[in-house]
Order: sequence, then C-alpha cells, then structure tokens
Amino acid sequence: MRRLVAETTVVPSQLVLPLFVAEGCDEPTAISSMPGVVQHSLDSLLRAAEHAVEAGVGGLMLFGIPAQKDSVASAGIDPAGVLNRAISAVVGEVGDATVVMSDLCLDEFTDHGHCGLLAADGTVDNDATLQRYAEMALAQAAAGVHMVGTSGMMDGQVGVVRAALDSAGHLDVAVLAYAAKYASAFYGPFREAVASSLDGDRRTYQQDPANRREALREVELDLAEGADVVMVKPALGYLDVLSDVAAVSQVPVAAYCVSGEYSMVEAAAAAGYFDRRAVVLEILTSIRRAGADLILTYWAVEAGGWMADPPGGVRTAQEAQ
Ligand code: PBG
Repeated sequence: MRRLVAETTVVPSQLVLPLFVAEGCDEPTAISSMPGVVQHSLDSLLRAAEHAVEAGVGGLMLFGIPAQKDSVASAGIDPAGVLNRAISAVVGEVGDATVVMSDLCLDEFTDHGHCGLLAADGTVDNDATLQRYAEMALAQAAAGVHMVGTSGMMDGQVGVVRAALDSAGHLDVAVLAYAAKYASAFYGPFREAVASSLDGDRRTYQQDPANRREALREVELDLAEGADVVMVKPALGYLDVLSDVAAVSQVPVAAYCVSGEYSMVEAAAAAGYFDRRAVVLEILTSIRRAGADLILTYWAVEAGGWMADPPGGVRTAQEAQ
C-alpha cells in the first residue's frame, strides 16, 4: 500500500554519475577524502562508463585533471587535453546509451585554481573568462559531448556558450546550467579529487549560503540565456532553494549531491553510526521530493543497482530499502 501511494520515486535513469579522469594515470587512484571514488585512467574510465550504462544510469559527468595547469587553462581547450580525449573515448564507448556530460569550467585547468581568468590585480575577470568558456565549449562539442555543464558561475556564461555552440552548428549540444551554485565548504573533498590548487575561496562568484531569493534570479537569467537544465548545488543543505527553483522552472531541474555530502555519509557509515544504504536512499528520495528531476551523485551506480535488484524490474528507492 505504501508503494501504491508513494508520492516520490527514484530510479537509476534520474541519476548522473560524476567521474574523474587524470592525465598520466595508469590505474585508478584512490581519493582519500572520498572513500570509494577514484581518479580514473582513460582505460578504467571506459570500464566505469560501461558499468554505469549497465546499471541504467541516466548520465555521466566527466571531470578532467590535466598533468599541466597554467594561468589560462590551456589544457581545457586543447583537443588533445585529458578531458576532451576522455569525452570522445567515452562517447565512442557508450554512444547514446547514456547522456555524456562534461564540466565546462576552468578550475581543474588553472594553476591558481579559480573558475575564471585573473585580471592583473588578481581578481577574477568575468568577461575575459566568457571567451574562454566559449572556446572550451567548442572543444568539448567537437569531442562529441552531449551536454555541457557550465559550473563556473560567471555572469553571462550560458548565453555565450549557447551562442558559440549554435554558431558552430552544435545545435544539439545541451547546456546544464549550474544556476544556483553556492560558495560551499561541502566542495572540500572535490578539491582533492581534482588536485585543485585554489588558495582562497570563490565568494566573489559563487552565492552566499544565506541567500535564497538570489537563486531565483540566477535561474531566471540562465533560462533567458538558453539553459536546457538548471541546477542547484549543493543539494541537502539547499532543499528549500531546490523547491523554489522547481516551482518556477520550465526546464528540468537538477541537484548536485556534492563531495562533502558523500564523504560525511561514508565517514559516518564507516564508523557504524547508521545504516549506509538506508541513509543514501533516504537522501536521494529527499532530493527528489524537494523537486529535483535528476540528481548528480557519486552513489549513482551503487544506488541504481539497489533499485534494479529484482529480475526484470526496476524498484524505487523506497522499495529498495
Ligand atoms: C567547478 C566544480 C566544483 C564542483 C563541481 N564543479 C568545485 C567548486 O566549485 O569549487 C564540486 C563538486 C563536488 O564537490 O562534488 N568546476
């Protein structure tokens, strides 16, 4: 009876798995602050992508870690750069069996670790960065990506990327806009995952956790600029924001259950403080209940597997418990 009247479901096709690929990496390398998550080699990335497709996961979000970072994020634009090579390899492997997405941001590629280019005084130069995002979008589209994730929080980034894609004929490449992205300490483990060299913080371009209305302005701007999906990030501490966004958005809404959310659950579960599987499923259900159509989560494959357990059928998160 509970199943019959359940208001919220979570199924694997609503989940997107973030994956890290590191240049010069021969085998998967553990990320100590994210137990169970690795930096992949190109080979192991393809196996992980294949495995995710078998689990029925709806999408993959690729992050690249270059061997060389510089002030202008050259490796992000280089067609032979680690992320662009990974995109074409993954698309070659999985084709249209899942949605292949890529992080369209400079921070993995800059030696200063910021999501934008720096002006002479050390501040992030929003407008100079936009040009770089456009070039990066074209490189990723040329590699065959299905959807780009504009995660840098520069003003105007969605419009510039959309225009660049359109003018180069990439009409079918979609834009997942990280619309309401907060300056969050929950990204801590991710910075290890991408070997970020950021010294400082991103408070001049990411949002203040104290602000709720501001998220709606960010979403409206991204929608007007052509976003195909809008995202709220992080997820758990921002379910109110997610709910607000879901109430007004005319396009699908995503939520990113980020590295720190993953790691705190893993740490508590490893200490035996709670039932890991039940907590993960409860979290995913809560994010869906708040209004997310899709969820980026490091648990995508594992949780998807729990939902798909019975032969021939997909179970919802609630049943999987
Ligand atoms: C920026 C980006 C970040 C994350 C995804 N894209 C880091 C940041 O903004 O500092 C964080 C994801 C996570 O913590 O899981 N390219």
